[in-house]
Amino acid sequence: MKFLLLSGSFRSDSRSLAILNAIQRRFPVHDFVLPDLTVLPFYSEDLAFPKPTAVEGLISEVASADGIVVCSPEYNHSVPAVIKNAIDWVSRPAFESVLKGMPVTIVTQASSPVGGARAQAHFKLIFDSTLSIIHPVHEMMISDIDRVVGLDGAIIDAKVSNRLDRHMNGFFDFVVQISRQR
Ligand SMILES: Cc1cc2nc3c(=O)[nH]c(=O)nc-3n(C[C@H](O)[C@H](O)[C@H](O)COP(=O)(O)O)c2cc1C
Repeated sequence: MKFLLLSGSFRSDSRSLAILNAIQRRFPVHDFVLPDLTVLPFYSEDLAFPKPTAVEGLISEVASADGIVVCSPEYNHSVPAVIKNAIDWVSRPAFESVLKGMPVTIVTQASSPVGGARAQAHFKLIFDSTLSIIHPVHEMMISDIDRVVGLDGAIIDAKVSNRLDRHMNGFFDFVVQISRQR
């Protein structure tokens, strides 16, 4: 299966990117695409006809994916603008976009003990508006992220690593289940 990985951060030492890279390494049986969302212009309807090439590229990656995996930090109790902007671009036409019926799982991380819980809730609200199918499990929130991801970007906390494997395996099963019901 093919999965689109959406990061909420693109700084060089991003722990969100580290987690998405770890997912790619741990599940080589699947194909993954991790697009650079910083190349997208800020959404404006003035730019929407015709859409910028980078936007068209992202839309076709979503269209050909079996599911989406989000990994993001929380910014000011919500979701970072870079990923919200990407979702906004892909979400048109409203209720008929490539996000409709797309299985999505959400991983948030933070250095705080809350693990990005508010961003997690906001992502659910956002993907609900796009009629995506949100993976219905206990949230995958990673707290104390400074201790979980090492300086080389590897996940060094065995418990979190096992929890992430379980979460992702659950999501892969969920995607198969949904495709059988379609
Ligand atoms: C603008 C900004 C706002 C932030 N707001 C929050 C917040 O509301 N809650 C929280 O837990 N962490 C907050 N943080 C901390 C980040 O979530 C945390 O550093 C995260 O691990 C960074 O992710 P990254 O390594 O993928 O860039 C904020 C960081 C920035 C830069």
